[in-house]
Amino acid sequence: MGRGRALLLLLLVTLTSLLFFRSASSEIFFEERFEDGWKSRWVLSDWKRSEGKAGTFKHTAGKWSADPDDRGLQTYNDAKHYAISAKVPEFSNENRTLVVQYSIKFEQDIECGGGYIKLLSGYVNQKKFGGDTPYSFMFGPDICGSQTKKLHVILSYQGQNYPIKKDLQCETDKLTHFYTFILRPDASYSVLVDNRERDSGSMYTDWDILPPRKIKDVNAKKPADWDDREYIDDPNDVKPEGYDSIPAEILDPKAKEPADWDEEEDGIWKPPKIPNPAYKGPWKRKKIKNPNYKGKWKKTAWIDNPEFEDDPNLYVLKPIKYVGIEVWQVKAGSVFDNILICDDPEYAKQVVDEIFANREIEKDAFEEAEKERKAREEEEAKRAREEGEQRKRDRDRRYGDRRRHRRHDPRDYLDDYHDEL
Ligand SMILES: *[C@@H]1O[C@H](CO)[C@@H](O)[C@H](O)[C@H]1NC(C)=O
Repeated sequence: MGRGRALLLLLLVTLTSLLFFRSASSEIFFEERFEDGWKSRWVLSDWKRSEGKAGTFKHTAGKWSADPDDRGLQTYNDAKHYAISAKVPEFSNENRTLVVQYSIKFEQDIECGGGYIKLLSGYVNQKKFGGDTPYSFMFGPDICGSQTKKLHVILSYQGQNYPIKKDLQCETDKLTHFYTFILRPDASYSVLVDNRERDSGSMYTDWDILPPRKIKDVNAKKPADWDDREYIDDPNDVKPEGYDSIPAEILDPKAKEPADWDEEEDGIWKPPKIPNPAYKGPWKRKKIKNPNYKGKWKKTAWIDNPEFEDDPNLYVLKPIKYVGIEVWQVKAGSVFDNILICDDPEYAKQVVDEIFANREIEKDAFEEAEKERKAREEEEAKRAREEGEQRKRDRDRRYGDRRRHRRHDPRDYLDDYHDEL
């Protein structure tokens, strides 16, 4: 009993120290769930406001959610520019993993618009934060029509923006989705959607920031000792008897000199030649696999690119000071939430798991909202139909059969784009 207790205690101490080590080794630079006090952290920009083109945000969980009290920031006005930002305690991702994560729910049929976030460096006048403000990192969905459903991953390097070269796609349904970007000190990265890896690779190859490390050698020549014969003659194959002494054709032994052959006129008669039935064909040495075969030599040999100059700090962004939302949307209604900037992918994963524990509730709430919307639309359509019929009856009563005899004017069919016949 005493021994058992001691072991249990030891186990608890070990677990606790592991947990402590965990939390001590990971750092959260910024986390925003848009709970109480969020207003003191976020500054709505006045960018485009005097022109009447700036939108505002609503602090809400949206029309459907897992928890109506878990609110985020929802874009509120159609066809507006949105810009809002929060200060982040300045940090550098040098020698550490950078994790940027947030959730977004497109409740609207956006038609065309962004749903991404940005990390900003240096001093920014937050009241003037807008589309021209330089940023160090931009990440998230951008939807336009039915064709464009881009997932942006744009990194800034020495003042220039570089989009990822891969064609990544975002989610387009009306539920909450988490987008996670992880950048490691070896310049490798991962993009996760809802905790599932969507893509991974390296900054060296998936952005055109540095020239490629290796290039194709256009002047490459096949080395003199490169043996690219896959098969060679078998030196041990011996020619059987008779092969070269048996001729391919012989004189036809059955042929006879024609009776009317005139030697003086026609020359000496010779029997015609026929194929020799004993002929064995030309002798060929057997082929064997070439033990020195090195494979087919290709001209596309790779060599070190003389233009390549490594930057071991390729992955290091300018020190981050702000996080911002800066998007334009045709139709408003996107809820941004759960913004997290940290150095611990495991913690980020836990956040997604925690929020998604209630994913089914959100789905049910969405289904319910959809049902209500459809019922409302049907009701409206019915009312419109009834009103239309009533108007028609009224018209018919007023104009009587004058209407019935009215001739169609071809101009009735012209639209704004065709002003002449
Ligand atoms: C990052 O690591 C390198 C190599 O260990 C070291 O020289 C450098 O000082 C470190 N930078 C920071 C900011 O810790």
